[in-house]
Amino acid sequence: MRARSTLWVLALLGCDGSRAPDAGALDAALDAAASEDAALDASTDAGPGALTANAGDSLYAVVGEPARLDGSRSIGATRYQWDFGDGRGWDAPRGEPVAEVVYERPGRFRAFLTVLDDAGRRRTASVLVNVTDAIVHAPRASGSVAVWAAREEVAVVSPDSDELAVFSYAEDTLTLVRRVATGAEPRTVTVHEGRWAVACAAGDEVTLVAPDGAIARVALPRASRPHGIVSASGALFVTLGALGEVARVDGGVLVARLPAVEDARGIAELPDGRLVVSRWRSPDEGGRLVALSPDGGAREAWALAYDPRPASDTESGGVPSYLDTIAVSPTGRLAAIPSTQAGIGEGLARNGLPLTFEGTVRAAVSFLDPASGAEDFAGRRLLDNRGLASAAVFSSRGDFLYLTMRGSRTVERFDVLTGARAGTALDVGFAPQGLALAPDDRRLFVDAYLSRELVMLDVGDPGAIPRELSRARIPSVEPLSEQVLRGKILFNDAADPRLGKDSYLACAHCHLDGLADHRTWDFTDRGEGLRDTIDLVGRAGLAHGPLHWSANFDEVQDFEHDLRGAFRGHGLMADDDFFAGGRDHPLGAPKAGRSADLDALAAYVASLDRYLPSPHRAADGSLPDAAARGRAVFEAAGCGRCHAGPALTDSGFVAPGVPRLHDVGTLAPSSGQRLGAALEGIDTPTLHGLWHSAPYLHDGSARTLQDVLTTRNPDDRHGVTSGLSAAALDDLVAYLLCLDGTPDP
Ligand code: HEC
Ligand code: HEC
Repeated sequence: MRARSTLWVLALLGCDGSRAPDAGALDAALDAAASEDAALDASTDAGPGALTANAGDSLYAVVGEPARLDGSRSIGATRYQWDFGDGRGWDAPRGEPVAEVVYERPGRFRAFLTVLDDAGRRRTASVLVNVTDAIVHAPRASGSVAVWAAREEVAVVSPDSDELAVFSYAEDTLTLVRRVATGAEPRTVTVHEGRWAVACAAGDEVTLVAPDGAIARVALPRASRPHGIVSASGALFVTLGALGEVARVDGGVLVARLPAVEDARGIAELPDGRLVVSRWRSPDEGGRLVALSPDGGAREAWALAYDPRPASDTESGGVPSYLDTIAVSPTGRLAAIPSTQAGIGEGLARNGLPLTFEGTVRAAVSFLDPASGAEDFAGRRLLDNRGLASAAVFSSRGDFLYLTMRGSRTVERFDVLTGARAGTALDVGFAPQGLALAPDDRRLFVDAYLSRELVMLDVGDPGAIPRELSRARIPSVEPLSEQVLRGKILFNDAADPRLGKDSYLACAHCHLDGLADHRTWDFTDRGEGLRDTIDLVGRAGLAHGPLHWSANFDEVQDFEHDLRGAFRGHGLMADDDFFAGGRDHPLGAPKAGRSADLDALAAYVASLDRYLPSPHRAADGSLPDAAARGRAVFEAAGCGRCHAGPALTDSGFVAPGVPRLHDVGTLAPSSGQRLGAALEGIDTPTLHGLWHSAPYLHDGSARTLQDVLTTRNPDDRHGVTSGLSAAALDDLVAYLLCLDGTPDP
């Protein structure tokens, strides 16, 4: 892959509106202004002796502790007068150049020094004083990259090749130390008691890697999907996404399983010693986190509010979702949670306005108090022209926050003290999804997952263009075919203008990891209706017949219509091809073979041919007793009439362009249309993967499987369920929760 240069754009003064004297500026800009002042003073000086003001170098100070401002590099001065920049006004003139001052609140203060001489002349210079809260916390949070400072090493997981890659970052160069085979699908890594510890989602294990490469494995429950890992209170804590639990691993063994939160994902240590866990995909009502004591005793639910704002070109409301990283500031006063904000209030059926390319998803970062969990809702930041914020890390003083924008290929810097956006590193690589910072605050490591590269940026000078110091390849051998990798990049990217406008929409922003986002979108303006997102894993593209609840697409290449339509991209096909030969209709002439990139996208979707294993099965993968009884209920109730064959669907075409649809009594006015015409029924979905795909039905109107079979099936049009006893229903649901593509004898 071609190496890309990293561009850094600084959002300097004035971009964020008004600039109060104590807010909104970066050292460099101010230092530059200050030295200009000094230069001006010097050049206009014509007196007997020179007089210049010099307020010293920009400095850091801590709230409540004396800061030392030093004007001793001034020339010719006899008196020194300071304005400390925090609003208290000019201090009395003093004979000595050094002043000690205590700031009462954090901020970036521009202090002014006026020097005077006996001839009555005066000169002024300024200096930036960066005042932070005291550092009380050593952050520990799960992520795909981790730094081992004592060894000057950084490790990054390679989930597609089942490896951990360890690099030395000494000498400002990434040098491969070793690659180690881990359990399947490593997702996050941390340092624990002299070893790297890696959580492996498909391998159901923690792989421990010693500095010499020796491996030990800790088995976790079957099909538990370990994701986040953190070292805290002398143990390892691992989120088990499929179980909604946190595993405590001590001495190389699983010692406890703590109930946490459904769809548990990221994990971090709080300043008070508790753990905080994020729920990956949120319910419609808002984002969810939970604070836990490490012994599992106390458990406190935290929330990120639903944002009721209607969408515009600069703002949009919705629910923060895809919560993963929880970055806690070293000041212990702030936690930042990157996410997308999904505009589920938008759409013709919902608020009467079409779902727009910029009102669908927008990157967000939410802030909360790590002691109480209370969200600073007014402080939530939405990022223009960005769809999904995937990882975050604070600088060592907590004054800057770095964020990766997954589809946009960028790293953003926020100035925490002023609230201003303080620069963007453009084009760091495809699908950046992990970040770590060396203790020197200078070397920032970015996991550019789909570029297969670890990138080291120099962010040491907030006013300078960060230099890309080094880039290193992560996997030993590319695990995917060239075409599938290309398709996966396209699926995960939002910055390519062929895919969408202004870097908002990527396929992955609703189908991250090939899974559903658990959202129901209002696609009424596309000629459809309310539509629950469908999991792509296991469906292997067209392996289950035509696509979508209304079977309106007959090839994955038909997503060209979404790219050109809802996403407002230019499309992957040439216009001449798209608009000719009847190809500009989803069920018209095939688009396959017309664009290598579109075919690559289809090849990637088709490569998703494995379901996630159900955690509801017994340890040996067989059906537990209740599920085995439920299987008999399933057969007796005639479910297999439509949920037929190994894929549990009869989806297909009965005549060219005419799909087999069933009206099972679930259609409502908000179900809308099919291809802009009447919707006569729904394409039978597979039942594999139900354990992780709630809500159910085309419009997401059933929260649970019980609802599908009872309240949403009052007239027995969807299988005969009304006569079933409560126990038989429970058994049937137990069976449905076990369906994951495993052939049961
Ligand atoms: C705004 C969220 C969103 C985005 C972005 C999105 N999807 Fe979807 N996807 C959905 C929803 C909702 C459904 C169900 C829609 C329906 O059935 O009409 C769906 C269904 C699908 C299906 C059907 C699976 C099946 O077996 O029937 C495929 C394949 C798919 N999406 C692929 C893609 C691709 C490829 C992209 C990028 C070009 C994409 N999606 C972008 C939300 C999204
Ligand atoms: C006449 C054909 C037919 C029969 C019989 C049938 N289904 Fe369905 N099933 C469908 C269709 C069509 C849908 C999609 C309905 C919708 O989305 O509104 C569906 C949806 C479902 C869903 C929701 C899937 C999802 O991903 O949201 C479940 C669960 C389900 N069926 C279970 C059953 C069970 C259990 C039975 C037997 C009691 C049964 N079905 C009988 C056709 C059928």
